[in-house]
Amino acid sequence: MTQAYHMSRRTFGAGLAAAALGGLARPARAQGAPLKVGLMLPFSGTFASLGENIAGAFELHLAEIGNRMGGRPVQIVRLDDESDPSKAVQNANRLVGRDRVDALVGTVHSGVVMALVQISRERGVPLIIPNAGNAAATRELCAPTIFRTSFTNWQPAYGIGRALAQQGVKKAAWVSWDYAAGQEAGAGFRDGLKSGGAELVKILTLPFPETNFQPLLAQIPGLGVEAVGSFFAGGGAVQFVRDYAAAGFRDRIPLVGSGFLTEGTLGAQGAAADGVRTGLHYGDGLDNPKNKAFRSAFRDKMKREADVYAVQGYDAAQLLAVGLGATRGDATAEKEFVAAMEKARIDSPRGSFTLSPSHNPVQNIYLREARGGENRVIGIAAESLADPGTGCKMT
Ligand code: PHB
Repeated sequence: MTQAYHMSRRTFGAGLAAAALGGLARPARAQGAPLKVGLMLPFSGTFASLGENIAGAFELHLAEIGNRMGGRPVQIVRLDDESDPSKAVQNANRLVGRDRVDALVGTVHSGVVMALVQISRERGVPLIIPNAGNAAATRELCAPTIFRTSFTNWQPAYGIGRALAQQGVKKAAWVSWDYAAGQEAGAGFRDGLKSGGAELVKILTLPFPETNFQPLLAQIPGLGVEAVGSFFAGGGAVQFVRDYAAAGFRDRIPLVGSGFLTEGTLGAQGAAADGVRTGLHYGDGLDNPKNKAFRSAFRDKMKREADVYAVQGYDAAQLLAVGLGATRGDATAEKEFVAAMEKARIDSPRGSFTLSPSHNPVQNIYLREARGGENRVIGIAAESLADPGTGCKMT
């Protein structure tokens, strides 16, 4: 379905962001002056390690290309958004209004990213989303200047739902935080199950970022399901996987999920994660030269192993460099900038990818099994999977 909009970008939502910015036009900076990139990410809270890995890998690629994009030196401005939707508009406005960044990279949380989406729509500031997977950002609230190097929430969950149905599971339940990411991943899981003739029979939720899982876990034995699917990430995922195992369900009712459930978390989850199967566009040990070089460089810089968040941050830097390369560092040359990024093939550690008409990666969703501290790739749950969005028509 093509989305059409009949409001001008500069007048859309003339409220919050425009008012805070005083309606100022975006200055085109002189060639050679530093290009400012705002990294709005969580550096505290349940998603802190996700934000750190995205930022670390973005800066890793930037260093690899001599700290310049399109011939201009790049200056990074980091801002901790705390994954708090109530502070999101103010934070986004600070980066664009006070810090006057030329491009935005952010964020992790699907609710918080909407403030960045709004500002990119209104002001034409390029936005690369290195994680948050909500559909609205590239469908009903899309803009030509909005790109994603991550996934849509639907994609990994669809993959694992489909794999489960193909293994013969007929009935499953879904457990997640009750916000856009959990809801949309639940819909993907349901669609994946359905594609193989299986059914989603129950959805259990709790508010983000709560971790009191006991009332939900208590309901599971009574549901008559053969598997439980879930969306949790970061600190919440560590806790959920541990609590699920401690409740004694792990060997009776297999736990599966979008791959974030076991991504960057295995050290803290320990044996509780062993055997948990997930779907994701990345896995440990993917055998391609780019991945090997990337993992070794990331380990040297960050003193820990890379994960999908690091990959997405690294690729955000690669994609931005393509756009700015085409405009010799002018982020306001929208037509050329957007056209170059739309055509890009990114040589990613996940395997090379192109972008779909709605600016999301077209990518394999791998089937992974956690074992001995690694998310081992055991198959492909969905090959070259594109999000169903068909492109952004904004008039
Ligand atoms: C999201 O809010 O879109 C989100 C957060 C963390 C993840 C994945 C998706 O790991």
